[in-house]
Amino acid sequence: MSKDKVQIFDTTLRDGEQVPGCKLNTEQKLVIAKRLDLLGVDVIEAGFPASSPGDFNSVVEISKLVKNATVCALTRANKKDIEAAAQALQYAVKPRIHTGIGTSDSHIKHKFNSTREQIIERAIDAVAYAKSFVDDVEFYAEDAGRTDNEFLAKVCEEVIKVGATVLNIPDTTGYCLPEEYGAKIKYLKENVKGIENVTLSCHCHNDLGLATANSIAGVQNGARQIECTINGIGERAGNTALEEVVMIMKQHPYLNLDTNINTKLLHSTSQLVQQSMGISVQPNKAVVGENAFAHSSGIHQDGVIKNRQTYEIINPLDIGLTESLIVLTARSGRAALAYRAKNIGYELTKDQLDIVYPQFLNYADIKKEVNDDDIHQIIDNSKIFMSRKVSA
Ligand code: KIV
Ligand code: ZN
Repeated sequence: MSKDKVQIFDTTLRDGEQVPGCKLNTEQKLVIAKRLDLLGVDVIEAGFPASSPGDFNSVVEISKLVKNATVCALTRANKKDIEAAAQALQYAVKPRIHTGIGTSDSHIKHKFNSTREQIIERAIDAVAYAKSFVDDVEFYAEDAGRTDNEFLAKVCEEVIKVGATVLNIPDTTGYCLPEEYGAKIKYLKENVKGIENVTLSCHCHNDLGLATANSIAGVQNGARQIECTINGIGERAGNTALEEVVMIMKQHPYLNLDTNINTKLLHSTSQLVQQSMGISVQPNKAVVGENAFAHSSGIHQDGVIKNRQTYEIINPLDIGLTESLIVLTARSGRAALAYRAKNIGYELTKDQLDIVYPQFLNYADIKKEVNDDDIHQIIDNSKIFMSRKVSA
C-alpha cells in the first residue's frame, strides 16, 4: 500500500530566525534556502517581508533562487503586509502567502480588543485579498491550540470559502497535550465543510517539550503538513524539529506516512544551521546531537559492537553519518577498548587485553574521555608489543 505524503514546511528562516541573536543576513539565508531545497522540503517559509527591508530583500532573493520548493511569505491580516508579501514573492516559481490572525479568546480580547465576529471578518478579508495575488494561500489561526474548537471550525470554514488552500492550526504557546492536539485536528476534519479540499497543517511550539509529539498526533489524525525548523530552533523553546518528525515517520512504517526528505542530508544540514546561527544543539539532541549515536557504557558498547541494532533504532548512515561512536570512558568495557584499539591497528589477544584494560581504567578515571592518542600511549606503556601489530 502506498504511503500518504506529509508535506514538510520549513520555517527555519522565519520562525527559526526569531531566536534572539540568530539574525541571518541575506547571503546566509540563501545558503540555507539552497540546502533546504536540496534536502527536499516542500515549502520554505522565507521570511516576513513587511517586517523589514532586509527581510523583504531576502524573500525576493530566495524566490529567485529556489527551484523546487514552494516559497512562502508570512503576513498579518492586513493589506499592507499582504501587498509586501506578494511583491517579494513575484519571482517565485511556486509562491504562497501565509496570512492569519489570532483566534483564541485571549488573543481576541488582549491583542485585538475585538470580538469573534470581527476576527472572522478580518480573516476572510485577508485570505480573499491574498488570493487576488496568488493561488496558494495558507491561513493561520494563531493560538489555535487554545482556541475553542467550535469557533476554530467556523473560522476555518469561512476562509475555505474564500479560497484558502492550507489551514495552519498553530499551537502557538506549546500548551496542548498530544491527545488534545490530535483531537483538535480530528474535530476539524469531521466538522468543517470543504475540509477535504484543503491541507491541514501542524505548527507546534515546544514550550512543554511536546512539539514533536503534537505534530505526530496531528498527522495521525489527518493533518498532511508539518511546519518545523532544523534543530527545532524558534521562538522561546523553539518549534517542532524537522529531523525528529521526518525520522519518526521513516522509522515507524505502520504510520503509513512518508516525506520527500533526503534524510542523508539531515546531519550536514543541522551542522550548517548551527554554524550559520551560532547556536549549537545540546549533545543529547535527538537525531542530530553529538551523542545521538555515541555509546559509552560497557553494556551498551558490547551490544552495539555485536550488533548495532541492540541499542540503535536509526542507522547513522540514514542521516548522513558514517558510523556510530564508541566513546571510551571509565564506564567502558573490554569489548569497547579492543574495538577501538583494533580501529587504530592493534589486534589485542585476551591476555594482552588483561594487561592493558586495568591501565586503561586508571587513565579513564583521570581523563573524562580516552582518545586514540591515549590508546597508543597506554599500549606503548604496557610494553605488550615491540611494534604495532596490524595496520589499520
Ligand atoms: O506560532 C505561530 O502561531 C506562528 C504563526 C505566525 C504561524 O508562528
Ligand atoms: Zn510559530
